[in-house]
Amino acid sequence: MRITSQPYNRLKEALFYNRATTKYILLLMVFISAVLLIGSVFQDEKAESIFPVLSTRKVNPVFDAFYNCVYPKIIGQKDNYDRFWLLYVHLTEECDNLPEYKTFDLQPIANTDEIKYVSFPKQKEENITMVTLGIGHDVDAELRLKKMWPGTEFFGVDPSPEINKDLYEVKLGGNYFQVAVSGQGGMQKSYIFRKKYRDETTMHIGADYFFGNMLKRPRVDILWVDTEGNEFPVLDMIHRGGPLDRRGVKICQMNVEIHKDLLKDVTGEKQKFHDFVWKIMEDRKYIIVKPFYVYWFHDFIRVVVLNVEDPECTSLYMR
Ligand SMILES: *[C@@H]1O[C@H](CO)[C@@H](O)[C@H](O)[C@H]1NC(C)=O
Repeated sequence: MRITSQPYNRLKEALFYNRATTKYILLLMVFISAVLLIGSVFQDEKAESIFPVLSTRKVNPVFDAFYNCVYPKIIGQKDNYDRFWLLYVHLTEECDNLPEYKTFDLQPIANTDEIKYVSFPKQKEENITMVTLGIGHDVDAELRLKKMWPGTEFFGVDPSPEINKDLYEVKLGGNYFQVAVSGQGGMQKSYIFRKKYRDETTMHIGADYFFGNMLKRPRVDILWVDTEGNEFPVLDMIHRGGPLDRRGVKICQMNVEIHKDLLKDVTGEKQKFHDFVWKIMEDRKYIIVKPFYVYWFHDFIRVVVLNVEDPECTSLYMR
């Protein structure tokens, strides 16, 4: 094909027939690329120190407040699982009363041996769904919650029906499920509270199956997890794009006890806790508040996780 266009011909001439010009153009292109590359590297480094995950997603200012306070305090312990476990609560103490958190009406509910925190809805007449994973012969906190928020519907899950079923159904007026909720289905070892703690083998179902197929509530307002070592499979499912997201199940708030070394054959809990916290930082969907380190019998960390992204949760719970 014959090219007749004048500008094209001139360009062709410049590029292909004039070697000197070609050389200059190539050099100029290399120079510009180098400048752009160096610029972007520096920009990334600068951004990395403030926000490692660059995203165009609109982030809640409450998450920003959490992130900006917590990130610089824990970054020094990243990848050091032992120190991260030991120091997380202490290092982030100062971040626990940020003014931005006043958007939640967070109130303590004392149990016989611990304190749970519940964020109450803005509107007094809301009906809310509460799930207890691991009843552990104790519904005192649930009974207090019921008094504080009568419009609460209770669902309790524990593999051991003795005492638990009666407490949850009769005393509390809730619904009881006799299963162990964890990461995947099948028979696994579980730590059950009967007369004393001991290893037992029990039927497990995945948390995604429980929430999606058994509970059938798309919004869980309050989730309390005290599953004595089975908390990580549940925690792993709440992240962005995870199994609960895929089933359309939203968790608005959660109180969870995070254990380590409870079962002799389970290891790596410190790393799992570390990874959970960093996933929270990356997800920008939840904040962690009221962290508490317990040295009693086994040491464990208790945290409250609040959803600051889901529109249904935020419109119900954030002022
Ligand atoms: C909450 O439940 C009660 C009893 O079922 C009902 O009368 C009330 O309308 C519900 N409130 C809301 C806000 O849906």
